[in-house]
Amino acid sequence: MARILDGKWVRDQILKDCVSRIERLSAAGRPPGLAVVLVGNDAASEIYVRNKVKTSGDLGIYSEKLTPSASVTTEELLEIVEGLNARADIDGILVQMPLPAQVDSSRVLLAVDPEKDVDGFHPLNVGNLVTNRPGPRPCTPSGIMEMLRRYDIPIKGKRAVVVGRSDIVGKPMAMMLLHAHATVTICHSRTSDLQGECRRADILVGAIGRPALLTADFIKPGATVIDVGMNRITDAATARSVLAGATEKLAEFDRKGAVLTGDVHPGDVARTAGAYTPVPGGVGPLTIAMLMVNTIDAAERRRGIG
Ligand code: GUN
Repeated sequence: MARILDGKWVRDQILKDCVSRIERLSAAGRPPGLAVVLVGNDAASEIYVRNKVKTSGDLGIYSEKLTPSASVTTEELLEIVEGLNARADIDGILVQMPLPAQVDSSRVLLAVDPEKDVDGFHPLNVGNLVTNRPGPRPCTPSGIMEMLRRYDIPIKGKRAVVVGRSDIVGKPMAMMLLHAHATVTICHSRTSDLQGECRRADILVGAIGRPALLTADFIKPGATVIDVGMNRITDAATARSVLAGATEKLAEFDRKGAVLTGDVHPGDVARTAGAYTPVPGGVGPLTIAMLMVNTIDAAERRRGIG
C-alpha cells in the first residue's frame, strides 16, 4: 500500500517554525499584520478566508478582513488596495480569488505593493519566481515543495508532470519543480495523450479541477502523486461513475449526499502510487501554513529583520 502524505502533520511542522519568528517581531514592536480582502459571498472563498483569519489569530499574527460587496467596482477595489499599501501595520495583503466578473482582476493584482504580496501573484513576483530570485511564492505550490522536502521525496532528475496550467497552482508548481531540477511537463485539457504523459511521471501533480480524472492507468506504479483538486460532488450519477471502486468515498456520499474528492481517483491512487496526498487532509492544510510564512517573511523584510 502507498504511503499517505499527511498535510496536517506538515502544516503543524511549518506553523511550529513560525512561532519564534512571530515572537521576535512582536518583541521588536508589533506582530506581523495581514489584510484579507474578500469580495462578495462565494461560499468556498468564505470558508478559506475564515480559516486564514483564524490561523493568523491562533499564531499571534494581527489580521483584518475587508468585505466589499459583490457589486464592487475595479476602481473601488483599487482604492481599498492603495489604502492597505499605505498602512504601516499591514505587512501582507491578500485579495481572495476569484473576483466577480465586473472586476478587472489583473489590475487589482498589479496594484498590490509587491513587498506586501503574500500570494506571490504580482507580475513582478511571478518574474522573481521564473528567474529564481528571492520573493514571495504562491502558497499552494510552495506548500507542496515543503511537503516533498519534509518527506524526503527526491526531485532532482525525476520526471514531474503537472496537470493544470493555472496562474495560482499549475504554472508556479512547474517552475518550482524545474528549479529543484526535475524534468517538467505541463499538461492541460487539450493535451493529446494525457494518460501517456502522466504514466511517465515520477511525481504527478493533479491541479485541473476534474473529479477523479486521474485513474490507475494515469499513474506510474510507485509514483508520488500530489492531488490539489477540491471537487464537491453532489450528484448521485456523477458520484457513481467517477468514484466507481472508491468504496469509502461512495459510502460517504450515501451518508451525506455530497462528497469532496480530488483530481485523482482515491481508490486507484492508494493501490498504485508509492506515496500520495489524500483529499481532504493532503495539500489543503499547506496553503494557509505557507500564507503565514509569506506574511512573516514580508514583515521581516519590511523591517530589516531576519
Ligand atoms: N483562491 C484559491 N486559492 C487562492 C489563493 O491561494 N490565494 C488567493 N488570493 N485566492 C485563492
